[in-house]
Amino acid sequence: MSTFVKLSLMSVGLMLAVQAAAAPAVPNSPRVAEIVASRCALCHGPEGESASAVYPRLAAQHPDYIAKQLKDFRDGRRKSETMAEMAKGLQDEDIAGLAVFFAGRKAAFRQPGDGDFAAVGKFIFQRGNSYSGVPACASCHGANGHGTQQLPRLAGQHPAYLEIQLKEFSKRERTNDNAVMHTVAAKLTELETRAVSIYIGGLQ
Ligand code: HEC
Ligand code: HEC
Repeated sequence: MSTFVKLSLMSVGLMLAVQAAAAPAVPNSPRVAEIVASRCALCHGPEGESASAVYPRLAAQHPDYIAKQLKDFRDGRRKSETMAEMAKGLQDEDIAGLAVFFAGRKAAFRQPGDGDFAAVGKFIFQRGNSYSGVPACASCHGANGHGTQQLPRLAGQHPAYLEIQLKEFSKRERTNDNAVMHTVAAKLTELETRAVSIYIGGLQ
């Protein structure tokens, strides 16, 4: 075999290895596509871009975070009348498939919101409020709000949804894993809550 052929075979092998590594852990089965179309698309959009501001966008959210929230809705740890109904009867494989599906959708372009609010929000997000003990959101969620495997992506999320969640964390009405976010959200004033939500909503 010539060196050229060997090298090209090696690069094909490498390409295949890279593709295999990038491929989702759970292939998108027809069953997942069916669940998205019949149960999720109505509120979260067929591509995870919810049309209504109170339904969270799921596009580009981290798969582990999506899967955890779905299990928490299903098993009653995160209380939500709407989502309890939607997650009812989902098997763990369905949840893994749905998480991979929505995580793989592209986040759409976001318009920045009201500039005065966004400026206050940027300060809170990037620097926190040392006078009241609010930590910088960026220290956990990342400077661009993209989160990590464990921490949710916030960038581009609907401000109205963010505000609701921050208020629920503050009152411990978001019932699952609220310890960290309760201490953060309980210190935010109403102005800061709105401002940081508007700033985050404009992040790409
Ligand atoms: C009738 C509207 C509706 C439908 C249909 C719906 N959802 Fe939701 N979803 C919501 C609302 C509202 C929330 C916010 C949770 C809350 O606090 O009540 C939510 C929250 C979520 C979250 C948490 C997002 C986050 O950022 O924490 C995930 C994940 C989710 N939905 C996935 C799904 C999936 C998957 C389906 C289909 C099986 C689905 N939803 C169907 C309304 C809906
Ligand atoms: C010490 C780390 C930490 C800091 C600082 C922090 N967060 Fe969080 N945040 C978390 C964790 C952890 C979660 C996920 C909770 C869960 O798993 O349900 C979270 C979740 C959230 C959510 C819910 C996202 C969704 O899709 O429903 C919002 C909104 C949020 N954070 C906003 C903020 C804002 C705004 C700030 C700054 C004022 C902030 N966070 C600071 C750790 C942090």
